[in-house]
Amino acid sequence: MYDFAPDPTLSRAELHAELHAAADAITSGEPDGIANMANVAALIWQFMPDLNWAGFYRTIGNELVLGPFCGKPACIRIAWGKGVCGTAAALGATQLVEDVHAFPGHIACDAQSRSELVVPIMRDGAVIAVIDLDSPLPARFNGEDAAGIERLAALLSTRI
Ligand code: SME
Repeated sequence: MYDFAPDPTLSRAELHAELHAAADAITSGEPDGIANMANVAALIWQFMPDLNWAGFYRTIGNELVLGPFCGKPACIRIAWGKGVCGTAAALGATQLVEDVHAFPGHIACDAQSRSELVVPIMRDGAVIAVIDLDSPLPARFNGEDAAGIERLAALLSTRI
């Protein structure tokens, strides 16, 4: 059993530092990428409040395919360049969306979602997956969250 108990009084930066340390510990030495994505999705879900979806889409051919996640069942395949996830993958750049209704082409997998953060995971210059976080709160994510999840994506580059 792994029992990571985030302290609710932590600042956002501290919370991301703790999430990173937990993700490092739980994936260290484990070669199976699916297992690592599953555990990291669960850690994000546990550490970050006010999420309704947290997980991975993997690059397979010219589309993104659903990977391990926490939340409601979601769209399985997203074409490169489509939606927030496909845009992050096509641009190789983080997408921080304060209001998903204002994002042209946003794909609503859960009608509750109001804001979204998508961070690409790169390996050898290619986007191999994205981390997708959704919240039912508008503007749930800020630059500290983007920076924290980008550090997590860098850690996972060789572990998924
Ligand atoms: N909203 C995403 C689709 C994935 S779900 O949120 C889990 C998008 O627009 O790419």
